[in-house]
Amino acid sequence: MRIDVISLFPEFIAQCAGFGVVGRAQERGLLSLQGWNPRDHAQGGYRRVDDRPFGGGPGMVMMIEPLQACLAAARAADTQPAAVIYLTPQGAPLTQKKVRELAARPRLILLCGRYEGIDERLVATEVDEEISIGDYVLSGGELAAAVVIDAVARLQEGALNDAESAAQDSFEADGLLDCPHYTHPASHVLGDVPAVLRSGDHAAIARWRRQQALGRTWLRRPDLLNEEGLSKADRALLQAFRHEWEAAGQKQG
Ligand code: ADE
Repeated sequence: MRIDVISLFPEFIAQCAGFGVVGRAQERGLLSLQGWNPRDHAQGGYRRVDDRPFGGGPGMVMMIEPLQACLAAARAADTQPAAVIYLTPQGAPLTQKKVRELAARPRLILLCGRYEGIDERLVATEVDEEISIGDYVLSGGELAAAVVIDAVARLQEGALNDAESAAQDSFEADGLLDCPHYTHPASHVLGDVPAVLRSGDHAAIARWRRQQALGRTWLRRPDLLNEEGLSKADRALLQAFRHEWEAAGQKQG
C-alpha cells in the first residue's frame, strides 16, 4: 500500500512511522510512505502557505494554491488513483471498520491542516473524505495522520508476526473490547492469574475470554454492545458475568 502525506511537517510523519510494526511494514515493502510539503509549492520569497481569514477573527487559514500544487505533485507520483482524506475534527469518526476499509485500498493521500484549517474551496474540490480521530482539537492533522497510518499498516498482510495477530484485538471480534491478558509469574503480590487460564482447557479458556470481552464492553462501552444481536450463548455468558459483578459489588457493600 502507498500513502502520501501532505503536511507542513513531513519529517514528523516519517519519524512517527519509523518504529515498531509500521517501521517493519515499510522495511518489508508492505507500506510505502512519502511526505509532501506545501511550502515547496508556495510562491514568493516568504513561501507563504497561510493567510488571514475573510470575515475577520483569530488565526490563519491554509491557502488554496500551495496545497493544490502539492496535491497535484503527489497524485502524479503514482499511476494508481488515490482518495484524498483530510484529517479534521469536523470529519467522520475513525472506527476499526473504517480502518479495515482504508487498509484494503492500494493508495491514500492524507491531507494535514494547520492553523484554523484549510480554505473550504480546496476541501470542496479536492477532498474525497474527512476523518476525525476523536472529539478534541489537535494543533494539526499530523498526529491524526500518524494514527491512520499505524492502524492501516498493521492490517497489511504480513505486517504482524503471528504473536501479534490482529484477530483478537478490541473491535475485531464482533466490535467488542478485548479481554484481559496475563503473563508470568502466575502468582504475584498484585494478584494471581485466573485459574482457568492455567487449566489447559482450551474450550474453557475461549469461553472465559469471550465472557470477559462481553463483560468489559457492557461495563465500559455499553454503546458498543447490541444485546439483541447477541447469540444465546453470548447472552448467557454476559448474564453470568453481570450476576458475578453484582454479587461482588454487594459483598463490597
Ligand atoms: N486535526 C485537528 N484535530 C483533529 C482531530 N481530532 N482529528 C483529526 N484531525 C484533526
